[in-house]
Amino acid sequence: SRNGILIVGSLNADLVVRTDRFPAPGETVRGSTLATLPGGKGANQAAAAALLGGDVTMLGAVGGDAHGELLLASLTDAGADVSQVRVVDGVATGTAMITVDAHGENSIVVSPGANDELSVDDIEGSESFRDRAVLGLCLEIDLGVVAAAAGRAHAAGATVLLNLSPYAAVPADLLAVTDVLLVNEHEASLLLSVDVESATPWAVAAAFANHGIRRAVITRGAEGSLVFDGDEVSTVAAVAVTAVDTTGCGDAFMGALAVRLAAGDGLADAAGFAAAVGAFAATKEGAQSSYPTLAELDAFRADSARDDR
Ligand code: RIB
Ligand code: NA
Repeated sequence: SRNGILIVGSLNADLVVRTDRFPAPGETVRGSTLATLPGGKGANQAAAAALLGGDVTMLGAVGGDAHGELLLASLTDAGADVSQVRVVDGVATGTAMITVDAHGENSIVVSPGANDELSVDDIEGSESFRDRAVLGLCLEIDLGVVAAAAGRAHAAGATVLLNLSPYAAVPADLLAVTDVLLVNEHEASLLLSVDVESATPWAVAAAFANHGIRRAVITRGAEGSLVFDGDEVSTVAAVAVTAVDTTGCGDAFMGALAVRLAAGDGLADAAGFAAAVGAFAATKEGAQSSYPTLAELDAFRADSARDDR
């Protein structure tokens, strides 16, 4: 539909173990019971957006195995269309080995598996680019596929929303067809060759402009976000929470941003909404398993407004 969101990206089974502290190289530490949860940056974005009421289609690939079924079921339950997720027999579904420490911080190693089967042909042959308001992309799939999808959606008039995670250097022609960039401070610093933490927002805005980027959001954890929209720079406050598990919080932020941009919100308003969704996700275990519906989000926002008084 005209308000539709297309997510082209990764789907992973998250194999999660909690431990008090991360092991040092060569060290063995004891962890919790293993949890197998639906994840992958692309699928997380799609699940977040669908749960918040977005009209979402996921385009990606899984293996013909139990992990693939887990991912398709999670997205279907969230309300996303999975008809464009290709099931590749004989290849393992993408897997993420995740360790979460006592502070809710994570460290992740991803084995791409079926995500690497996604090709430019899947983009060129797809009917799902028609009439989309927003295309969401991350860098957990082949960069050529990301560029092909961005080019096609941008030419069709959709808003191309690109999350530079996990960070990789991207070609200038991909940035040229990106309408909104979503990065954390680390990714922004690498992209712009500017220390974003110490630079003024105006210097950062100028560096974005030098890269041809007019609209961007930089997330800064507990410091909230910086929003760059043409000549305007604004800040969005963080929603304070006690983090249980921050895995997939950035993806929740991205999915929420996609929903509000598809509905016609300005970037700063959309980022304010997304900040609440990301904070909610930090209060629960796992990625997709921690994402709110609109009703859950409303209750959470009412609670945090009360706590602020
Ligand atoms: O961003 C969080 C995600 O990164 C996890 O769900 C994991 O699958 C990795 O892709
Ligand atoms: Na979480």
